[in-house]
Amino acid sequence: MKILWLFVLSISFLSGANAAKVVQLDDKFAESKNCKACHLHLVKDWQESWHSKSHFDKDEYFRKSIKYYSRKTRKSLNGVKVECATCHNPRISVTSTDINYEIEAVLGLDKGSKVNKALKADALHEGINCVVCHNIDKIHSDKDEKIRGINRVTWTKSGLMSGPYEDAKSPYHNVEYRDFMSKNSNQLCFVCHANMSSVKNIMFSNMEKEFKSDGKMCVDCHMGPKKLGVASTLKIDDGEAKKRMIRKHGFKGAHDEDMIKNSLKLSTWQKGEDVVIMLKNPQPHNIPTGYGSREILIELEYKKGSNKIKKEEISLTTHYKDRRKRPTIAHLAKTMSKDMSVPAQGKKVIKVKKVDGASDVKISVYYKLVNDEVHELLKLKEKRWSKKMLITRKSLKLK
Ligand code: HEC
Ligand code: HEC
Ligand code: HEC
Ligand code: HEC
Ligand code: HEC
Repeated sequence: MKILWLFVLSISFLSGANAAKVVQLDDKFAESKNCKACHLHLVKDWQESWHSKSHFDKDEYFRKSIKYYSRKTRKSLNGVKVECATCHNPRISVTSTDINYEIEAVLGLDKGSKVNKALKADALHEGINCVVCHNIDKIHSDKDEKIRGINRVTWTKSGLMSGPYEDAKSPYHNVEYRDFMSKNSNQLCFVCHANMSSVKNIMFSNMEKEFKSDGKMCVDCHMGPKKLGVASTLKIDDGEAKKRMIRKHGFKGAHDEDMIKNSLKLSTWQKGEDVVIMLKNPQPHNIPTGYGSREILIELEYKKGSNKIKKEEISLTTHYKDRRKRPTIAHLAKTMSKDMSVPAQGKKVIKVKKVDGASDVKISVYYKLVNDEVHELLKLKEKRWSKKMLITRKSLKLK
């Protein structure tokens, strides 16, 4: 028990030291429905994105991870929700919990507490919504790289939108230009998409470190190219909506089959008795990247004439172990296995002994959002988590 209290104390001390300043949002701006009258097209894009599903009620994988984490660390469920909200729900009005809250929660005295109220706020259900990104005033890139999400930014006053234009005006809200909304927008993404570490300080993902770009920015692929359109449909330009270069707000990623398809290039040839498989990654970040426990599956189907004779599977994924060396989720890892991802703008070469007597082999490369180990640990039910999404496929004649 003593160890537990010390552990809880040390977390609350850490988050206390970097406590973020909360800025209360006016109801006029808190939710995306308030933006629809003039930015409906952008709201619709965003609703399709996983940023709008980053709240625990909307993402089964996230929700079950929180429960698992709480069970294993004996931290209260709400305490864990607040901890993860740092990046998943940054407009929460309570940014850390302390030992007093943990005691109240154990005793069941937390019902009317500030923490419980904060977690019930309607706007939180929107996850990473408009006033997360567009209410960032400053990004503190000079802070220790472990400090992320809420604790890495300061907010604008409620009603002041930071944006990509230097000359915008709106009757509904104030606007100000920020370079992290235009030429430096990778900085905005790295507020959360970087340096994900476990309770034991194992860094299981760091997109900022692995990023190797030939000039493309995150927004070029995840919000699409700039196109002529309107930022707002309000008739502010001589009775017309003002024409602007805009981007989509879809933030499509690994949950989307179109993004996955052809994200890696496959070449294959025979060398002596081996089948050589080369995966090249033209993207500026590793594949898989981001949250731990994603998986690439390479399936080899051997044929002799038209008969299927054997199937083999190679898994590229990372496994995490807790302090007792049992499998666990990334956030609780004490150790992790070798990173198996295909590096940014790099390649991975795999050799397999060919099956005797085979005349052909079909090689299919798939992507899975969760590997079997973690899928099992969390007992995920929705289909999407076990679905094999095709990246690419090729056949090879064997000699
Ligand atoms: C994850 C961060 C993020 C979220 C969430 C987000 N935006 Fe944006 N938004 C951006 C970035 C980055 C740009 C600038 C893109 C560029 O020009 O390179 C932008 C641009 C804009 C623009 C200028 C026009 C355009 O499309 O380029 C408007 C208006 C806007 N956002 C409104 C919204 C609204 C309304 C919402 C909520 C439905 C929203 N944004 C949610 C990051 C975000
Ligand atoms: C009554 C209409 C109206 C509503 C409601 C509205 N906006 Fe705007 N917004 C505008 C207009 C007009 C512009 C300027 C467009 C232009 O200059 O092309 C604008 C511009 C923006 C910009 C770009 C600012 C810049 O400097 O680049 C952002 C970001 C933005 N709005 C976010 C939001 C968000 C978030 C909401 C909801 C909380 C919202 N707006 C609600 C009318 C509105
Ligand atoms: C406030 C923190 C935060 C910021 C800022 C942020 N993201 Fe995210 N992003 C997240 C979280 C959390 C998720 C995971 C949501 C989930 O799956 O439940 C996510 C998911 C994604 C995904 C994955 C979608 C999928 O289908 O797999 C993409 C792509 C993405 N973000 C791109 C961006 C880009 C580009 C930017 C910068 C313009 C950005 N994000 C800024 C926190 C953030
Ligand atoms: C040249 C295009 C390109 C650029 C630039 C790019 N990405 Fe991606 N990204 C992709 C593709 C394709 C995928 C889908 C394959 C995959 O999941 O790895 C992806 C996947 C993702 C995912 C989901 C990964 C997962 O497995 O959950 C996230 C998050 C993401 N990108 C964020 C970013 C951020 C943040 C940046 C900028 C630092 C960025 N991307 C820059 C092409 C790009
Ligand atoms: C440093 C910011 C940050 C913190 C803190 C954080 N996350 Fe995340 N999380 C992200 C980002 C960014 C993504 C999206 C990565 C991607 O799609 O590749 C993500 C994605 C996830 C996913 C995958 C969701 C999906 O739909 O595939 C799970 C599960 C998850 N986080 C669990 C947690 C848990 C549990 C906590 C708290 C113990 C937590 N996260 C805290 C940034 C964070």
